[in-house]
Parts: sequence; C-alpha cells; structure tokens
Amino acid sequence: MTMMNRRKFLIASSAGVVSAAFSSPLLAATSRIQSHPLVASAGVANITSDPEIETGVWQYNGVTPGPTIRVKQGEPVSIPFENRLDQPTTVHWHGPRIANNMDGVPGLTQPVVEPGKTFHYQFTSRDAGTFWYHTHNRTWEQLARGLYGVLIVEERAPIRIDQDLVCVVDDWLIDDQGKIDDESFGNLHDWAHSGRLGNVLTVNGAHQPVFQVRSGERIRLRVLNVANARIMPLRVKGVKATAIAIDGQPITPEVLTKGEFTLAPAQRIDLVLDMLLAPGQQTEIEFIGRRKNLIAATLKCHPTEVRRTRPLEASIELPQNPLPSSGDWSRATRFQLSMEGGAMGRMQGAEYNGQWMGIRDLIKEKKIWALNGIAGLPEKPFFSVRRGTSVVVDLENQNAWPHAMHVHGHHFREIGGSKEGKSVWRDTVLVEPGKTRRIAFVADNPGKWLIHCHMIEHHAGGMVTWFEVI
Ligand code: C2O
Ligand code: CU
Repeated sequence: MTMMNRRKFLIASSAGVVSAAFSSPLLAATSRIQSHPLVASAGVANITSDPEIETGVWQYNGVTPGPTIRVKQGEPVSIPFENRLDQPTTVHWHGPRIANNMDGVPGLTQPVVEPGKTFHYQFTSRDAGTFWYHTHNRTWEQLARGLYGVLIVEERAPIRIDQDLVCVVDDWLIDDQGKIDDESFGNLHDWAHSGRLGNVLTVNGAHQPVFQVRSGERIRLRVLNVANARIMPLRVKGVKATAIAIDGQPITPEVLTKGEFTLAPAQRIDLVLDMLLAPGQQTEIEFIGRRKNLIAATLKCHPTEVRRTRPLEASIELPQNPLPSSGDWSRATRFQLSMEGGAMGRMQGAEYNGQWMGIRDLIKEKKIWALNGIAGLPEKPFFSVRRGTSVVVDLENQNAWPHAMHVHGHHFREIGGSKEGKSVWRDTVLVEPGKTRRIAFVADNPGKWLIHCHMIEHHAGGMVTWFEVI
C-alpha cells in the first residue's frame, strides 16, 4: 500500500466499516465486516480527583478504558491489533463465547504479540451481552495500568431504552505524586493476601464522572468491575434499579433491594434505571465502604427537559442467549478443583513446572497458590472431555481468602445448595473462604480454556489451570 492508501485505510477502519477491497483475504469472504482496530500504547490520563494531575497509564487507542466496541450478536467482527508498548501483550475477550484461537491466552491459544507487532483478532459472538476485553499477559501489571475496555454485543431484538451507558469501575494504586505505584507491582505480600488493592476509585477512567440524563428516561446501565483484586459492593441511590443481566447473560428482571449489588473482579451487571427524578435533580452510584461510602458517579437530570413522567411501559426482559443446557446434570462428568495456598493457608508445597516443591522454594518462584496441588499453568489439562460433555466442577475453597473464579470460553450455572433455584449463568463466580461452589456447563466449545482466579495477583501467584474440549 502506498502511504496515501494506508491513510485512507486507517480512516476507513476507524469509521467502523472496511470494504472488502481494502481488507485481507481472510476478510474478503464477507463483503462488509465491522472493523475496530485497537492499538495498545502508553499515554496519560486524569484519573485522580486533582484535575491538574496527569497519570501515566497504558491504553487502547489513547484512552482508558479503551473504546467501547459494539457489535451485533452473530455478526463477525475484525479487530486488527497493534502493540506499541515496550512489553509483549495479548488481548483477551472476556465473556463472549468465541473460537479458541481468538481467546488471547499466551502460550495456550496464541503466542504473545511482541512490541511493534500485530495480531488480527476476528470472531463472532454467539451471545449478546455486556462483555469486556483486556490484556492477558503480565495481567497483574498491564491490567492495573489501564489495558481494558468494554465489548457490547447487541441483542438482535433489543429492549426499549433511552440511553445505554457503561460504568466501568476500577481502583488504582497511586502514589503521592499521582503516579501509578510501580514499586508495589509484584509485591508478594499483596499476592498472598487479597491482591493489589487501589486507593483511587474511577468510573470510566475518571474521578466521579457525571452522566447526563433526562427526567423520566429509561437507562440501561452496564456496570463492570475491572479492578485487579477489589470486590466492589455498590449501590444506585434514589431510583429503582432492576437487574436484567449478570456477566452478560439475561436473568429474570429483579429489583435490587436498596439498589445494592456486589461485583467481584471481572463480574458485570446490567441494570435498568427509570430516572423518575424532577428536572435538575441528581443521584449517585456509590461504592459501599466499610466506614463510609464513596461517590463513584453521579446521574444528573437535565435542568428543564422531561422525557416522561411515568415509567416507560415496555418489557425489560432480554431475549435468552443460545446457551447449551443439559437441564439434568445428574449424569454430568464430575471434577473437583481445590484451591489452596495464600497467607494463613498452611500449604506445605505444590507441584511447579512438573516438580514438587516445598513452600520455601515456591515462595522464591512467587508461586504461593495452587489448584489441585499444582501451582501455575500445568502441562497437562485439569481435564479433557469430548465436545458436548456436561461437566460439573466443585470449586473448593480451602484457604482463607475469597476468590473470583473465571472459566474461559463457557458460561456456567451454579447447582446444588439453596441458591440452585435462583442460579444464573455467569462466567465468574465468587467463592468465599471455606466454601464449595458447584458449577455446571456443557463443554461445547472446542479448544484449550483457562480456569483461573480473576484476582489477578492470585492468578499470577499460581491459581490457574486449564481444560480441553476435543
Ligand atoms: Cu478476564 Cu483469563 O480473564
Ligand atoms: Cu483468588
């Protein structure tokens, strides 16, 4: 391509649709395909409460969160990705059920994308919903530096709303100078406890942003917890909040008591808010702290305009996604996954790189967590099943910390226990210390898939395994 053509290409790509004439042979099969180029690079952002302070962060397309990518359910999307960081990276699509070779896991589904290099992501999401994308290499550092964004897969038949807003909640560990606290990366004390927790709360990469709404509007609010490790208890004040989806998967709409909900790292919730406030009034989304609540964001009604005075009369129930369900899990293939290690975990040792090691040696390797006695990604899969097998996994938390366990490539539901009747499909579940959560899914997506704790320091510290669907 000449320089001129290349520029035109870039302009056409950023406009969203690339015509086949400019695209690779891979894309030529489809005449028109959504294209969302992503570039990872270092940049600055104003994330603290002081508008004068610019913090050095890592970004997609010069912003953090990265651009919200919107695609339609069942339609292919093309994401040419370029790495302009000085570290290798990858992009993982968290939540959509897509082909394995696009999952972005270095060493398992693709090689890392070296600095200056590119990788072409292309996939079709079977499900509609609120998903996200993020780095999956040195995630404990790269995610904390801001490498994440929202992926919205729109329903074929969407519900009626006036505004569709994202609310990406993060906590950053910032030092006195307003810089990302570099020193704390890799801090083994954090890794063995709750992970690296931040001291600055942001929504959509900003301090207490204001969402402009109008009196009577119906808002779809997609809330995501992208923090490395913090469990976020949140609440929407002043208006009725109805949950309609969890981790992207539709649920029977449920009004939240006191507007409260909790998101573990990587979890999402879709809410419907009817803004039945007078013009000019405002209300807040709060982080519920131990001692006091913090304002996360404000919803502010236009001073004069009124959209309506009674709630919109239209269903807020989302159409179901085509999830494979066996309905009867009693004949499923069963597995146990015991989660060990961490501070006060009394772990004696574990296998690491194919060798049993005592805890002292593991600490030297920064491997302080284990799944079924193995720290870090094992060479052999946790299990290997034929495509279409119903699988039940007992997630047994045998240590002193809560863990947000995430399964790649599949959504699961919880079975057993008192919650079974109310269980929902999700991709990340919080397992409290000493508790066992039984999850079930049909392993119908061929390939190699991770199961790991999404408290990223725990993942880095060894709490990761994988399974294979053949
Ligand atoms: Cu959010 Cu292994 O991913
Ligand atoms: Cu964990």
